[in-house]
Amino acid sequence: MTNSPSGGAENCPWQGVVSVMDKSLMCCRVVLIIWCVLQSLAAWAKDNQGVVIASESGSEYSISVTEMLEAAARAKAKGLGSSGKSTATYTANQPVDTKILTPKKQKLPELHHVVGVPLAKTMHPKEALELGEKQELVCATCHGIEKIDEIPVEKVDRKATNFLKGGPYATLTDFCYRCHTEKENERPNIHVMLDEQGKIKEQHCTYCHEKALKRDQVYKPEELKLRVAREAICFGCHLKTPHLNALQHQDKPSEEKLKQLHESEKKLGISLPLSNAGKVMCVTCHSPHPNGVIKASLPAAKQVANNDLKTGVTYEKHLWGAVYASDKQQRLDELERKTGLLQELEYQRIKSEVLLRLPAKDGSLCLACHTFNDRE
Ligand code: HEC
Ligand code: HEC
Ligand code: HEC
Ligand code: HEC
Ligand code: HEC
Ligand code: HEC
Repeated sequence: MTNSPSGGAENCPWQGVVSVMDKSLMCCRVVLIIWCVLQSLAAWAKDNQGVVIASESGSEYSISVTEMLEAAARAKAKGLGSSGKSTATYTANQPVDTKILTPKKQKLPELHHVVGVPLAKTMHPKEALELGEKQELVCATCHGIEKIDEIPVEKVDRKATNFLKGGPYATLTDFCYRCHTEKENERPNIHVMLDEQGKIKEQHCTYCHEKALKRDQVYKPEELKLRVAREAICFGCHLKTPHLNALQHQDKPSEEKLKQLHESEKKLGISLPLSNAGKVMCVTCHSPHPNGVIKASLPAAKQVANNDLKTGVTYEKHLWGAVYASDKQQRLDELERKTGLLQELEYQRIKSEVLLRLPAKDGSLCLACHTFNDRE
């Protein structure tokens, strides 16, 4: 049994998709509805709960519920999982597993939801659920397809309305909230740094800085007293691949781009910080702070005006969606064959944006470093 390393999200299918897609599509939202949701939750759970039990022998995972309970108890005794917040209404002595056994020992995808664990006492689903003898989660608890455990994974019709019981669901999380409560799964949004009176919430500063900095002062990178290096500080809470092209961007700008970057900073009075190694980071494009934290006249304070962090980044469907999807279908089919994962893409447009140093909606962020005809 091993405590799974954190940041298990590197193999998010974004990366595969990026390579087969047009490279110019970053500022539209391409939603990979399926795995990223589970993946981000699982990665978050792994990072924050610690009790992820991975198989010692590798892929074939066969362990009884009792064994799992024991393993979880051992992990708990070792102090794993005793700290940190849980996303799920996770009660500590329940086993948590990302690899799954099925009655027929059929291999489910690595990040499939746990099965065989009892429904938590804190869960009160509105509709009666079909559970196993010991009130545990079985295939039929969540899937409406008969004998799904006897069908090879790749043959399961995921588009069937009863693939997920009670479906289809508008979003996968709607399905999750049948058992998990929305409220308990909310993470505290540390980007909300000002209270209703506009006063600073210092405890939020100290998530990232060792102490709250002066808001009217310009700091050198080494003076920021960040708990984690600037280029990695977002990863405890966000995926390394939060959206298309984020990872691809963590590179050194070409000389030409660098020149344009510095000119944009000067011309627009903004800050586009690069890492000590001169690479683009999350905070090159994103401001970690909302408006009002850094003194307005400083370059680090310049960002999109919207401060509605509750709504955050939102997208709207767009007529191009259908055209876009059909255009990409062939390449998606190919990717699906290669990865064995169903790939779905949807074209959407940014409706509202927050925590960005320049608007991306109208392209100005991209134009700070790119010119229109530099796409290879
Ligand atoms: C707690 C709910 C839950 C239980 C229990 C559950 N599943 Fe799933 N299953 C899901 C969800 C959620 C997905 C992913 C849906 C999506 O991504 O759209 C999924 C996906 C799948 C897929 C498709 C995987 C793919 O990549 O195409 C198969 C096959 C599957 N489950 C089989 C099973 C079998 C067999 C069992 C019983 C051993 C089982 N599931 C138990 C929730 C569950
Ligand atoms: C039928 C009820 C049910 C549904 C629906 C359901 N879950 Fe769970 N989930 C559970 C139970 C029971 C556990 C066991 C741990 C616990 O008690 O919280 C669990 C545990 C988890 C965990 C922690 C364990 C781990 O694997 O790291 C995550 C994360 C999770 N669920 C995410 C989801 C997501 C995402 C969805 C929707 C796709 C979902 N759940 C749908 C019942 C459900
Ligand atoms: C999510 C992590 C995070 C939180 C929370 C956070 N900061 Fe920062 N802060 C950063 C990072 C990363 C930088 C460096 C950005 C850069 O290189 O320009 C930074 C830079 C700064 C700077 C320097 C700006 C400059 O131009 O030199 C000040 C001042 C600052 N933070 C104040 C605060 C205050 C006050 C709070 C609490 C209200 C806070 N920060 C909360 C991550 C955070
Ligand atoms: C090249 C600029 C750029 C870089 C680098 C970048 N982002 Fe983004 N990010 C954006 C833009 C633009 C959006 C809003 C539109 C979109 O989804 O593409 C966004 C959106 C987001 C969102 C909201 C996504 C959603 O759908 O709700 C998160 C979270 C995020 N970024 C985190 C990160 C993290 C973490 C990193 C570093 C790994 C990062 N970003 C790197 C430009 C960037
Ligand atoms: C302590 C955890 C934590 C850290 C560290 C953190 N964030 Fe966040 N961030 C959140 C939470 C919680 C939200 C609210 C939305 C959500 O739950 O995903 C959020 C929201 C965002 C959003 C808006 C997305 C939206 O749709 O609302 C962006 C962009 C973002 N973060 C970027 C960053 C960047 C860049 C960093 C690194 C400087 C960072 N975050 C560090 C927890 C964190
Ligand atoms: C801070 C500068 C900067 C900003 C802002 C920026 N980029 Fe980039 N972009 C880069 C760098 C650096 C690279 C990778 C190395 C290179 O090409 O110089 C890159 C690469 C790319 C690539 C090629 C990726 C690949 O896989 O080869 C695309 C497409 C792209 N950017 C689109 C965008 C879009 C769309 C935006 C606006 C949302 C944007 N960029 C904003 C600096 C930036």
